[in-house]
Amino acid sequence: MAAANDQIVGAWEGLNALPDMDDRQFARWAELLERRTGMAMPGERKSFLVTSVGLRMREVGFRDFDAYYQYLVSGVAGNLEWAALVDRLTVHETRFFRDPRALTFLADQVLPELLAANRQELNIWSVGCSTGEEVYTLAMTVADAVGDHPATPHYGVTGTDISMHALGVGRQGTYPLRRMADIPEDKRNRYCGILPERERFRIVAPLRRRVGFAQMNVLDAARTSSLQMDVIYCQNLLIYFDHERRRAIVDGLARHLQPGAILILGAGEFVRRRPTGLERVRNSGDVLAFRRPVNE
Ligand SMILES: C[S@@+](CC[C@H](N)C(=O)[O-])C[C@H]1O[C@@H](n2cnc3c(N)ncnc32)[C@H](O)[C@@H]1O
Repeated sequence: MAAANDQIVGAWEGLNALPDMDDRQFARWAELLERRTGMAMPGERKSFLVTSVGLRMREVGFRDFDAYYQYLVSGVAGNLEWAALVDRLTVHETRFFRDPRALTFLADQVLPELLAANRQELNIWSVGCSTGEEVYTLAMTVADAVGDHPATPHYGVTGTDISMHALGVGRQGTYPLRRMADIPEDKRNRYCGILPERERFRIVAPLRRRVGFAQMNVLDAARTSSLQMDVIYCQNLLIYFDHERRRAIVDGLARHLQPGAILILGAGEFVRRRPTGLERVRNSGDVLAFRRPVNE
């Protein structure tokens, strides 16, 4: 009986255990991920990589890492599969009004200054926006600031991310009801509509029309033509990159700020050097913010 049990357990483990990834394979996978996404994959993250890649590989019917790798790097089907794998490897954790200090700085200092400059348009960019909560948070914050202002400028918030799946959720603008608790009550009443049938709520249409979502690898920001943004908000993304890449990413983002525009980063997320062409905003408290000088 004991032997039969051992056999059953052994067969079950055989079905579920993932194959080993040797050092050569790990180096190859880590190189592919770093090159394509910029994500640092040090040895400590090997078990994360083995589990995430292994589970996805199983789902699509591959039994070993080399065959799956070959499939990914060749042909159109491989490109599609790559997008699905990237969803598994990226961390999408987010929530509405995640960083109150940065949002207070935006609402109380940055937006009043931009509005005082009588801009016709306000363009805001949420970089690494995940499933959209940050995009709608920014849209609510800007909508409230603009709403009170006599010379109402046109405004819009663009969210970009590498994950197609996350962007799809953002475009829907529909979230589980429990997530609404993160939204201040006054904004909840103005910008959220409850969908009674499914314990969910949706961002109201007028605000959804203010936002857009697009796929973009942040590593490509340095190469695209300038987007002339007024505020770039980039939080909880740089942590996934090594210091050299962080510097390159931040310099790439800086190119998209027009004179007087502001880059807001997550606390402690940057490296020592100031981004090229920007000055540190001094009165931003704990918030890490940089400005493109008006008179360059
Ligand atoms: C932890 S979430 C942060 C979401 C949001 N900014 C926040 O602070 O709540 C990180 C996001 O960065 C995205 N990401 C990771 N690597 C990326 C890359 N190379 N280009 C663009 N987005 C990337 C992930 O897909 C994920 O949605």
